[in-house]
Amino acid sequence: MKDYLIAPSILSADFARLGEDVARVLEAGADVVHFDVMDNHYVPNLTIGPMVCKALRDYGIQAPIDVHLMVKPVDSLVPEFAKAGASIITFHPEASEHIDRTLGLIREQGCQAGLVFNPSTPLSHLDYVMDKVDVILLMSVNPGFGGQSFISATLDKLRQARRRIDESGRHIRLEIDGGVKVDNIRDIAEAGADMFVAGSAIFSQPDYKAVIDQMRGELAK
Ligand code: DX5
Ligand code: ZN
Repeated sequence: MKDYLIAPSILSADFARLGEDVARVLEAGADVVHFDVMDNHYVPNLTIGPMVCKALRDYGIQAPIDVHLMVKPVDSLVPEFAKAGASIITFHPEASEHIDRTLGLIREQGCQAGLVFNPSTPLSHLDYVMDKVDVILLMSVNPGFGGQSFISATLDKLRQARRRIDESGRHIRLEIDGGVKVDNIRDIAEAGADMFVAGSAIFSQPDYKAVIDQMRGELAK
């Protein structure tokens, strides 16, 4: 089977017991912690910052932390998150004045770097930076909230992104974020994704392992 990663979005976790809830979802078989950072400026919601990332590390969370920055400006937060224990840092091209510089900054800080594409953002932002990205994240909802429905046009965009990755000959993760559920994960994988963010689909259920197992079952088909 292909090397698929399941990355629960902790936006839908229990913030009052965050360390415990993150540990629980990892014990249930998750691979990566997806950490949504919203600033009420670039997106219309406000969430968590580097202190919370560090708190998770201090609590003993060892899995990779995938920091999805939905903030503007971006650069000042990069060293902060690297220090706080981020493994991957992704940002939206619209939120950075100098995309190449921001990607370089993330790597200089020892993290993997990625670009995030909103549903209507063209993939052409990748044109001159394919050698500088480790992750491409396609949003299948408009960013800001959990629990929205998957926008189906993203499937074709995934196929285009997969083609670009294959042509580059580089190992770049293709991550999908928004509305991922047990009943659509297989179509999403077939379109080319290999890293799946799921917030409400996992955290709304009492048994995280059951959902993650079902997702892996779909991916193995
Ligand atoms: C949305 C966030 C997502 C969100 C996904 O802006 O980037 O990571 O938590 O939530 P679900 O899986 O519920 O669509
Ligand atoms: Zn996200």
